[in-house]
Amino acid sequence: MAWDSGRLHFGGDYNPDQWPRAVWAEDRRLMREAGVSLASVGIFSWAHLEPEAGRYDFGWLDEVLDGLAETGVGVDLATATASPPAWLTTAHPEALPVDREGRRRWPGARQAYCPSSTAWRERGLALVEQLATRYADHPALAMWHVGNEYGCHTSRCYCDVCAARFRLWLAERYGDVQGVNHAWGTAFWSQRYSSIDEVLPPRITPDGAWANPTQQLDYRRFASDLLLDAFVAERDVLHRVSPGVPVTTNFMVMTRFNQLDYWAWAREMDVVSNDYYPDFADPLTHVEAALSADVVRGLADGDPWLLMETSPSAVNWQPRNPAKRPGQLRRDALQQVAHGADGFNVFQVRASVAGAEKFHSGLIPHAGTDTRLWREVVELGGLLGQLGEVAGSRVEASVAFVWDWQAWWGVELDSHPSVDVTYPDRARAFHRALWDLGVAVDVVAPGAPLDAYSLVVVPTLYLVDDDAAPVLDAYVRDGGHAVVTYFSGIVDADDHVRPGGYPGAFRETLGIVVEEFAPLLAGERVTLDDGGSADVWSEDLRLAGAEAVVSYVDGPVPGRAAVTRHDLGQGVAWYVATRTDVETTARLMARMVAEAGVVPVAAATPGVEVQRRRKGDTSWLFVLNHTDDAVSVPATGTDIVTGVPVSGSVTLPAGGVAVVREGGGA
Ligand code: GAL
Repeated sequence: MAWDSGRLHFGGDYNPDQWPRAVWAEDRRLMREAGVSLASVGIFSWAHLEPEAGRYDFGWLDEVLDGLAETGVGVDLATATASPPAWLTTAHPEALPVDREGRRRWPGARQAYCPSSTAWRERGLALVEQLATRYADHPALAMWHVGNEYGCHTSRCYCDVCAARFRLWLAERYGDVQGVNHAWGTAFWSQRYSSIDEVLPPRITPDGAWANPTQQLDYRRFASDLLLDAFVAERDVLHRVSPGVPVTTNFMVMTRFNQLDYWAWAREMDVVSNDYYPDFADPLTHVEAALSADVVRGLADGDPWLLMETSPSAVNWQPRNPAKRPGQLRRDALQQVAHGADGFNVFQVRASVAGAEKFHSGLIPHAGTDTRLWREVVELGGLLGQLGEVAGSRVEASVAFVWDWQAWWGVELDSHPSVDVTYPDRARAFHRALWDLGVAVDVVAPGAPLDAYSLVVVPTLYLVDDDAAPVLDAYVRDGGHAVVTYFSGIVDADDHVRPGGYPGAFRETLGIVVEEFAPLLAGERVTLDDGGSADVWSEDLRLAGAEAVVSYVDGPVPGRAAVTRHDLGQGVAWYVATRTDVETTARLMARMVAEAGVVPVAAATPGVEVQRRRKGDTSWLFVLNHTDDAVSVPATGTDIVTGVPVSGSVTLPAGGVAVVREGGGA
């Protein structure tokens, strides 16, 4: 069931337990002033809610929730299990996680728990039961927020309890020890097991000797499933005791984090929500933000989702933490909405004065309300309220990216041909080229139906199971256009090479055979015969039905094809065998888009982002000017940011935004 918020939410994590009661009334007044509609409460409050085992203190939370209800602020109520209190880990030291070197990780920060720990799970579920029973009918309750950013700090624990659970997981996946031996290729290096009982997590191995790669991969799968199991246990309590209230947990879909298989997680959510933080050192972080949001929308199956956290201004955890520039907060917010979010929340409502995040911005800054940031916050809250008509609409895209966390984990395994082949790299490069062209992008899982798309991009899908590759092949034969980038289709789900020439799974679709990889050395570049250049990777590629579109002029395989194009059935399959530079990637993408008949959202203007959301007969064109100059973009309708009619084109100042309800003519 799609989440229907009926409005564009605005708000953030709210941590009143860090403050004396005297501040709470002011918080509520300011939240009202800023148009806050949703506050995430109690995410790290376990120690306050249960100061001793089994002794609960809900008085303060009652007061907070009552106050928020009176203020008209909905509550995304946390289950508070994200960080166990000191009494729990003191009584149960085994509840602390163990790293791959066998060291306990100590409390004193957060998320210090072993996901298999019975104590953590049982005490946590008891707390959830209490919270759900007490607040199920509270008028402020809008949503449940389970845990927090699962896998952020503790993604894998290597303790003996986890080892035992891993064995059960293996028995379930493979049936018996022969299945494990086959999948892991244990004939190699005398790794054969005679019983599943002998299997361990991939703990630290002798220097320079890699742990079995499939064991590593399976441990990541297991660890994602184990945390998901912990989420589901809490969710099920909430569904039982508090039926009808949507349950979420905040994902971390960014191109910098990859601990969980979010395709599997998304299936268990009532609302998909995400935390996205810009990388302030990356001048293209706003393009990455668009990709991140597209991935999240894919997880939500195209339905509206919630941006659960970002920073209102600076973060405190990057090496250097600049404040957002004037107008950036509004642009960041509307960008997420443009890509399908029906709410924009931040960490956190009031900036802390103590603790590890005291230099992280909040909606209410240390300097108070006579500040630019506060004025921008109030303006944004008003604007999101004003744009409420957009809620529930969907983004339209005719290009799909195939994205996969398991393939990403596979790429990251050690003992590979080049350390420079990394996962989101080509996804980011091709997405950027499409972003520059003003083309909207959906993100789908491997094996998902592709018929709705004119063009499908498959970046670095190193690992692909037996079911997904035929879907791409059939799509092309039926008239689709696809582009696959290097180091795709190399291995099956067990991380076994698909023999007969790379890229095994896609070889016939692409009409090529790669005889050998020819990775480039650090800093080495090859010249391409279209005037461009490339680095990182090349391949000794033989044409087997495809034509060469671009070839190498020099480097390890001069004369060999670097980019190929294969007419197959009614469609076309492209292959990009090297890490093309930005201009070459842009040229290629422009040609592929044109051949596939993909229509941009609006005529492209450099540095200007355009997205369209539609609901029934109504559509809204989002225009975001990421440049330092004024721009004009074709549009007709009414800009619902300013209320001004737009006829033919909308002009935006540097950094400006518009949301044009299309149609009519002015
Ligand atoms: C998130 C986390 C928040 C806060 C925030 C700071 O990862 O969920 O609790 O730490 O980062 O940017």
